[in-house]
Amino acid sequence: MSFNNTNERSKLAKWLLPLLLVGSAVHAEITLKGAMATDHPGATISRHIYGQFSEHLGASIYDGIWVGPESDIPNVRGIRKDVVAALKDIKVPVVRWPGGCFADEYHWRDGIGPRDQRPVRKNNWWGGGLESNAFGTHEFFDFAQMIGSDAYISVNVASSTPTEMREWIEYLTSDDADTIANQRRANGREEPFKVDFIGIGNESWGCGGTMTPEYYANELRRFSAFFHKNGFGFHDNNDNNALRVASGANNLDTQWTKVVMTNAAMAMDAISLHFYTLFEGDWPKRNEAKATGFSLDQWHEILFQANRMEEVLQAHIEVMDQQDPEKRIGLYVDEWGTWYDVEEGTEPGFLYQQNTLRDALVAATTLNIFHRHTDRVRMANIAQTVNVLQAMLLTDGEKMAKTPTYYVFKMYVPFQDANFIPVDIKVPMIKHKGKRYPAVSVTAATGKDGRIHVGIANLSLDQNYTLELDLGNVLTVTEGTILTHAALDAHNIPGEQEQIMPHVFDAASVVGEHLKASVPSKSVVVLTLQ
Ligand code: AHR
Repeated sequence: MSFNNTNERSKLAKWLLPLLLVGSAVHAEITLKGAMATDHPGATISRHIYGQFSEHLGASIYDGIWVGPESDIPNVRGIRKDVVAALKDIKVPVVRWPGGCFADEYHWRDGIGPRDQRPVRKNNWWGGGLESNAFGTHEFFDFAQMIGSDAYISVNVASSTPTEMREWIEYLTSDDADTIANQRRANGREEPFKVDFIGIGNESWGCGGTMTPEYYANELRRFSAFFHKNGFGFHDNNDNNALRVASGANNLDTQWTKVVMTNAAMAMDAISLHFYTLFEGDWPKRNEAKATGFSLDQWHEILFQANRMEEVLQAHIEVMDQQDPEKRIGLYVDEWGTWYDVEEGTEPGFLYQQNTLRDALVAATTLNIFHRHTDRVRMANIAQTVNVLQAMLLTDGEKMAKTPTYYVFKMYVPFQDANFIPVDIKVPMIKHKGKRYPAVSVTAATGKDGRIHVGIANLSLDQNYTLELDLGNVLTVTEGTILTHAALDAHNIPGEQEQIMPHVFDAASVVGEHLKASVPSKSVVVLTLQ
């Protein structure tokens, strides 16, 4: 039997799910007691940890964001209206572009000027298809502005030069009458673009040049010398206000962070980290890493791996604290998310995967972990925005679906730039085949609106928990939202009725100074208190 498209897989998943749920009868509710230090708020949770990553990969840019001005799909200047509207609703704070591995082969001049005269290149990293360059610098900044997001560009280090980087920055930011700025004007943009972050290389240990950390640190110093960052010593007579992001480590490779920090700290404002939620921390193996229709072992493995973000962050932060105790340098997790087998019948190089309730739990757990490290982790970019890996949105022609991960990002909007509130709570561990991970994850913060927001992820398959949190204050629950479903792999398909979306949650109240919330198994809950 073969299942060639998402619909067939979805039907199969529905047939399999009763099997998945066998033996998962819900047990009597357990109470977990703790306290929230509402009077002692911590650091600001940077809104940038809610960032996105959009690469020239599969249907991420083309079809997912860009359809072109001539398309029948409703668009503004070639950019999909439905995608823009959906992304505005989750208040995307920053988008990273154009890659990824693609960035270290990208030449920015290919993507400016009249679109019909732009060169067509091979996308060698992702499926070998043709890259029309229709979506280039002007289109990206148009998109970022449409969704109200800051811009984070990655420059080509591995197959380019500091001159090419310098000229792109000048094209983007110069307000003078220099030839490059005039070229931008001739291409329709009078005022400079606002560039907030610039990544100097991507995965320089891998697709970005297979460099050693020592070699990359030298490259970073060399490129940084021509970055001409405003306010940077004698280079301060220019218009470039972007922060420099060094290409960082993968997973637990703290040696990379240590060497690059030791040899080139002066050449960066942040260093990145990539951590994907993969089976056994390894590359997906066909039929073992299913996005839907997965086994219970696969359910547990992914939630276990997602929780490893905590130890991975701690390891890199420890190294950074030794080199930079003042915490001048940010840690940007500029690629994270689940990585499964691609959907049956799709191009393996396009990394198109479905997204389920399990991904929503991964997202909430990960965001809660980021909150706990907010003094160092100041940006994160989930991979990727549309149609690739743990996407927010999936498109199919003119149809679009919002994924469960999208809904977590929507529920968590109040945490953007909120003040972290420490939560002291002891939670039970889920044990499966020799591995352990916390059953419940809780986060809290005082929002910019002055209200208190609490995010809870219950990762248990079958155990409801009642949380009793001492608030030290008399408050009222004013809002509650829940994302859950009976099916472990509940997901949404473009053009079909939505299966999983948030609902009002009313099983929480404050008695005296105690918040009491009955949180069902496999759910994400967000509460607002006032
Ligand atoms: O997000 C897909 C790819 O994963 C990126 O291009 C690369 O940086 C990482 O290996």
